Amino acid sequence: MKTLLKMNIDSIKETENLGLMIGKLLKGGEVICMTGDLGAGKTTLTQSIAKGLDIEDYVTSPTFTIINEYKGRCDLYHFDVYRIGDIEEMYDLGYEEYFYSDGVAIIEWADIIEEILPDERLNITISKKDYMDSREITIEGKGDKYSNIIKELEELFEAIGKKGVERI
Ligand SMILES: Nc1ncnc2c1ncn2[C@@H]1O[C@H](COP(=O)(O)OP(=O)(O)O)[C@@H](O)[C@H]1O
Ligand SMILES: [Mg+2]
Repeated sequence: MKTLLKMNIDSIKETENLGLMIGKLLKGGEVICMTGDLGAGKTTLTQSIAKGLDIEDYVTSPTFTIINEYKGRCDLYHFDVYRIGDIEEMYDLGYEEYFYSDGVAIIEWADIIEEILPDERLNITISKKDYMDSREITIEGKGDKYSNIIKELEELFEAIGKKGVERI
């Protein structure tokens, strides 16, 4: 099963609200794959997902370290694979222990390591729009568990009356 939500975001605040919602829905064991250009908002969204996981530390992009770990309601493994030279580097750092764990794995630039991503996952794509703070965000749930998250998100958006959310 595959479900997709597409939405228009007008401000950083809205991105943060989305992240908080996603974070609160997570139970541990999820993999979230983020795609989008530099400055699209992948780290910003990750920071608010971390808040939803009750992580108090300040989350920064692990560009030079590939992975940062945080403790919260469940562990967060934050990957940024932008500078990865070879997929072997992912094997070297033992990515499987993070992807298939009780924690939450968030991967920025996930498309770079497409070949090792689990089939079941949440795909988030962020695109910049004409206006500075506006973004188009699509969230795709692959697999039952992730489709459920999409369903719950859709209900939350309906409850707060957010416009510009489309189910595809
Ligand atoms: N709606 C928005 N959502 C996310 N970030 C936004 C938004 N509007 C403006 N920004 C700004 O865009 C930048 C996004 O940076 P960042 O999250 O580091 O992007 P990425 O990790 O995708 O490279 C930040 O400076 C943030 O303040
Ligand atoms: Mg980033």
